[in-house]
Amino acid sequence: MSVRALALCGSPRAASNTETYLKAALDVLRGRGVETELVTLRGKTIRSCQACYACWRPGAGVCQIQGDDFLPIFEKMLAADALLVGSPVHYSAVHPDLWNVLVRAGFPGMAGHPHSAPRPFARKIGGPITVARRAGQNFALAQLLLWFNINGFVVPGSIYWPVGVARSVGDAAKDSEGIETVIQFAENVAWLLETTRTSRLS
Ligand SMILES: Cc1cc2nc3c(=O)[nH]c(=O)nc-3n(C[C@H](O)[C@H](O)[C@H](O)COP(=O)(O)O)c2cc1C
Repeated sequence: MSVRALALCGSPRAASNTETYLKAALDVLRGRGVETELVTLRGKTIRSCQACYACWRPGAGVCQIQGDDFLPIFEKMLAADALLVGSPVHYSAVHPDLWNVLVRAGFPGMAGHPHSAPRPFARKIGGPITVARRAGQNFALAQLLLWFNINGFVVPGSIYWPVGVARSVGDAAKDSEGIETVIQFAENVAWLLETTRTSRLS
C-alpha cells in the first residue's frame, strides 16, 4: 500500500511563496517513494466553524456545514499518512482559510474528550511551514503547531524552524536557507514515515 502525503497551501495568491516551500518539501517526499498531493485553498470557499457542535453528535464525526469546499479536503486529510500545511503570515497569524479548514477538521475528533472519541489524526506525521516578508512567522508557526499537537500528530523538527522569508511572488526561490530548512523537515517526515510504516499498517 502506498504512503501518502498531503500538503495544504493557505495562500490566496497564484504561484505563491508558500506553494514554493511546500513543493520543495513534496519533492523530497516523492524522491523517497511517497505519493504526494498539493491542494491549494486559493479560490475555494471555506466557511468558519459555527460552534454548532453538530460534529459531536453520536455518529457524526465530521463537520456538518454543507455547501462549501471543506468536505473533499477533509477526506484527503483523513486518507493521508502525512499532512503538511503552509500558511502565508497575515498580521502575524495564519491565513483564515487554512485556519477554517483546520478548526473544522480537528474539532470532531475532540468529541467526548479525552477518551472515547475517534482520533482521526492520531499518530499521523506532519507539520507546518509559515511564510512572511519580515515578521510573524513564529507566531503563526506556534498557532499551527498547537493544532498539530492537540490532534495527536507526530511533528519532526528540522535544522531551523520551518519558516520562509519572502515578500513578492518568486522570492521564496531565493531564500536558500528557508528552502534548505524545509527540505530537512521533509527528510525527517520521510524518515518517520519509513520508520513507522509497519506499525501504521498493523
Ligand atoms: C493582508 C496581509 C498581511 C500581511 N501580514 C504580514 C505580517 O504580519 N508580517 C510579514 O512579515 N508579512 C506580512 N505580509 C506579507 C506576506 O506574508 C508575504 O508577502 C508572503 O510572501 C505571502 O506569501 P504567499 O506568496 O504564499 O501568499 C502580509 C501580506 C498581506 C496581504
